[in-house]
Amino acid sequence: MPHDLAPAPEILRVENLTKHFPIRRGAVLQRVTGTVKAVDGVSFSVPAGRTLGLVGESGCGKSTIGRLLVRLIDVTSGSIHLDGADITHLKGEELFRRRQDLQFVFQDPMSSLNPRMRVEDIVAEPLLVRGTDGVACRTRVAELLDLVGLSRGHARRFPHEFSGGQRQRIGIARALATNPRFIVCDEAVSALDVSVQAQILNLLKRLQVDLGLSYLFVAHDLSVVKHVSQEVAVMYLGRIIEIGDRRRIYASPAHPYTQALLSAVPRVGAVSRKGAGRQVLAGELPDPINPPGGCAFHTRCAHAMPRCSVERPELEHVSKGHHAACHLVG
Ligand SMILES: Nc1ncnc2c1ncn2[C@@H]1O[C@H](COP(=O)(O)OP(=O)(O)OP(=O)(O)O)[C@@H](O)[C@H]1O
Ligand SMILES: [Mg+2]
Repeated sequence: MPHDLAPAPEILRVENLTKHFPIRRGAVLQRVTGTVKAVDGVSFSVPAGRTLGLVGESGCGKSTIGRLLVRLIDVTSGSIHLDGADITHLKGEELFRRRQDLQFVFQDPMSSLNPRMRVEDIVAEPLLVRGTDGVACRTRVAELLDLVGLSRGHARRFPHEFSGGQRQRIGIARALATNPRFIVCDEAVSALDVSVQAQILNLLKRLQVDLGLSYLFVAHDLSVVKHVSQEVAVMYLGRIIEIGDRRRIYASPAHPYTQALLSAVPRVGAVSRKGAGRQVLAGELPDPINPPGGCAFHTRCAHAMPRCSVERPELEHVSKGHHAACHLVG
């Protein structure tokens, strides 16, 4: 096999990842009255140097997966392996050390960057808490600002003095400070204008190549992840309902939900013809505290059969590297 066709080793693997949040009622007693299955038995892996795009409507569990992966919250069950090592239950000093490999870029840089801190202090913070001395910090901050396309002159300014795109560059510089291997980009470009989105996506792609980074790229919009991901996973109410090679997902989506999401993506140059192959996603997302039985999507699915309301479909092979959880498949 030629060298460049060898499969990349996987950097991250999650198996049966589950996160249930208790719903509490009552100001004093805080009785548990239900559970949100925010993430409900999700498995996937990310090869080193690649990007998995994660999409789905608001509330389907994308950010919860991101927060679980970087160990900001604890799993209910399931496992997370980074570079072959089980990091699911790391605590204290061990978790602190591992965290330098795992970073997070947030959607809204304005609320994730401390408005009272100068850029140089924001970017240096992860280094200072790891004991890097002042001189080395300043050198590294200058290097990082350069890497994300900001100048050293920006170091003394405050976040409000920057545009949205520049603020996202600051967030990326801070995420890169500890030389991470895996970065969760949670709606990292969603708040930006389209032209600025493209600049930040290009920056992330360049950094991926230059630094060998791997990403989980979260977005609710399939058009955004298309340009950065090699693989795409589609979520619905806490579960992955379709996953596979990006080209296969976009060219021949197998799940009616993915088909509906894709048909909602405006295409440049496409002539809008009423009803021409468009599948509108009907109805609201069901209540996640009380999701429908069987296939959770059956209440909105144009192809639903009696079986769909009683039997939950598992992910089945559609084609090489492409799986979907739908009774129409297989
Ligand atoms: N700390 C929490 N306590 C209780 N429920 C939570 C908590 N965090 C998330 N949830 C619930 O878990 C579900 C998934 O939330 P999550 O934020 O992961 O969705 P998302 O796909 O990132 O949505 P969005 O696109 O709006 O960011 C939602 O129903 C949400 O209300
Ligand atoms: Mg989210």
